Amino acid sequence: MIQVAVMGYGTVGSGVVEVINTNAAGIEREQKDDMKVKYVLDLREFPGDPVQSILVHDFDVIVNDSEVDVIAETMGGLHPAYEYTKRALEAGKSVCTSNKELVAAYGAELLELAKNNDVNYFYEASVGGGIPIIRPLNYALTAEIIEEITGILNGTTNYILTRMKNEGLEFDEVLKAAQELGYAEKNPEADVEGYDACRKIAILCSLAFCHQVDYKDIYTEGITKITATDIKYANACGRSIKLLASGKRDGEDVYAMVAPFMIDAQNPLYMVNDVYNGILVKSNMLGDTMYYGRGAGKLPTASAVVADMIDAARHKGATEKFLWDKKKLEVADMSHCRNRFFVRMEGTREEVLAKGAAYFGKVEPLASVAAGEAAFITGEMEEAEFEEAAKKAGGVINRIRVK
Ligand code: HSE
Repeated sequence: MIQVAVMGYGTVGSGVVEVINTNAAGIEREQKDDMKVKYVLDLREFPGDPVQSILVHDFDVIVNDSEVDVIAETMGGLHPAYEYTKRALEAGKSVCTSNKELVAAYGAELLELAKNNDVNYFYEASVGGGIPIIRPLNYALTAEIIEEITGILNGTTNYILTRMKNEGLEFDEVLKAAQELGYAEKNPEADVEGYDACRKIAILCSLAFCHQVDYKDIYTEGITKITATDIKYANACGRSIKLLASGKRDGEDVYAMVAPFMIDAQNPLYMVNDVYNGILVKSNMLGDTMYYGRGAGKLPTASAVVADMIDAARHKGATEKFLWDKKKLEVADMSHCRNRFFVRMEGTREEVLAKGAAYFGKVEPLASVAAGEAAFITGEMEEAEFEEAAKKAGGVINRIRVK
């Protein structure tokens, strides 16, 4: 029997217990052994819930129990998740996590600690919920050089942008509705400002480019400034606005950013709507591969945690190698990153297009969708070059990068 513990009985932690109990027969067949949740750690009580009988409030009970081999860390946040994970790994227990904050901040260190203690630190659920993306990057794509990894990594913002597009609503209206439906948190900052996607792309870049990418180095812009009029322009030119998290090589440089982009229907991420996530990987031999599915939610995320727990049990005593070391990868200065830009400007159509040509070079005019303004898409230019031109031209209402 494989005895496991679950730290944190919130949405994902309770999902982990449910997945193990529901799919027990399958897990036993897979393992030739059954998996039993011996402890659930949480500060709260759960009267009437079957886990009440295995509930502990003291982490020491778990870390000192030699029968526990594998621990699910579904607490979220940095502390005490970091301290508990370290102590568990040092005590010879594998840890499987959904905690992207912890993996983004301490992933390389915890992977090394796991290696030094002949156990595993698995984190498939930290990016893309139930979508397999960590294992494909770490195993299936190891013969490839990853050129770019771009994803819709946040379900909440994708849901908001999808409803804005389909219903012509403003950001605030959809956010409020999403909060009422429980799709967005009461404090939505981490999602709508792009911080959640930033941590997830830091994890993917660290793995894809093999060195530690510090999430604090990643340029991050959320979706709060996107308006119904921006969406109208996007619809009129057959594009969609998506919050993309991206890491890409450009010669010796690696650029990483999170920002809203306009993408057209040829882009495979165009059809990733509602709460779904999608991750597009461009690699040098295979070309494009796409990973799609439920990037959040109790059971999809818990499923990935439990798959990691099964893998940890399967590899007891042997550490799986991850292509992610502690050496810091210096993310290139964003001001040199090249993009096209959608620009909305005050003025008549003639005035705006004349300014566009004068300050931004050859531009693609867009159909007008609002009075007193017009819009165009620039050619590819460096971020700094664009900012300079926009400042000189004046009258810019909004700008969104175009892929
Ligand atoms: N708030 C996150 C999202 C949850 O909306 O995608 C999963 O990390």
